[in-house]
Amino acid sequence: MRVIRNKAALHKQRAEWRHARERVAVVLTMGNLHAGHLSLVRLAQQNAERVVVTLFVNPTQFGDGEDFEAYPRSLKRDTRCLEEAHADVLFIPEIETIYPFGIENATRVSVPGLTEIFCGSRQPGHFDGVTSVVMRLFSIVQPDVAVFGQKDYQQQLIIRRMADDLSLPLKIVTAPTVREADGLAMSSRNAYLSDEERQVAPALYQTLHDVGEKLQAGERNYDELEDRATQSLAESRFRPEYFAIRQAIDLKEPDLDCSVFVVLAAVRLGKARLIDNIVLGGNLNSNELDG
Ligand code: PAJ
Repeated sequence: MRVIRNKAALHKQRAEWRHARERVAVVLTMGNLHAGHLSLVRLAQQNAERVVVTLFVNPTQFGDGEDFEAYPRSLKRDTRCLEEAHADVLFIPEIETIYPFGIENATRVSVPGLTEIFCGSRQPGHFDGVTSVVMRLFSIVQPDVAVFGQKDYQQQLIIRRMADDLSLPLKIVTAPTVREADGLAMSSRNAYLSDEERQVAPALYQTLHDVGEKLQAGERNYDELEDRATQSLAESRFRPEYFAIRQAIDLKEPDLDCSVFVVLAAVRLGKARLIDNIVLGGNLNSNELDG
């Protein structure tokens, strides 16, 4: 695996691959890698001959008082993991490479609507930071395929919309959420949980799963299902931010004939903020989402 830090070297490598007619898949990360990230690398390998992993802790997607400075960094371990996973290139840009005119003067990309709800309403500007840096990384790497995790459901949906809307010449692939044995979705931020909170944390997935079973059994009183789930989470030490049953395709409230649902939730637990979701009735990578 080559570790590349500057744009010129990456462009040279990209040109060689293009010349050899090899497709390139990219996995964008902020580092501190776990099995979830590595599953994205494997899926990328199934979709292209070459895989570039980027590691950039993007300041513009963290709000004031969020954990940008404290965000866990573990470059040595990350490099070793990616080597073992046989990634072709690890791209670790400097901040000046990503924002050559400075953050304040940087061109931004913004997707209205989808970015203003759920995680977007709690963290204003967060998704503008995400779409803007993803667009920059796409422009530098020029991938044929980009793989994102279902774990961040709203994020992958916004990126799909951006790619569609701007006719970006690449395919977006969404990878299933990798979980701990007890169901907790893997996340760098699980490290913020105390031992006691860690014991409670799997109840988030359990609650999503229970609601999923009720939907599959034909229950359609969404408000009541959401209220009961929120209440039960609050009773087991979570501080729920949202719990919602939506159409998977656009996060709108389900129509009567909706057949593909996403149930998504964000909670606080101690110092950690946890998000998770499940999709019912469809495959995120096919065109059948609108049922
Ligand atoms: P980061 O949180 O490092 O996540 C990188 C990718 O890994 C994302 O696509 C995310 O959805 C995926 N991922 C995280 N946990 C996962 C899990 N348990 N199972 C499967 N996939 C998982 O998301 C970001 O970074 C940033 O916003 C980024 C897209 C890199 C832009 O800065």
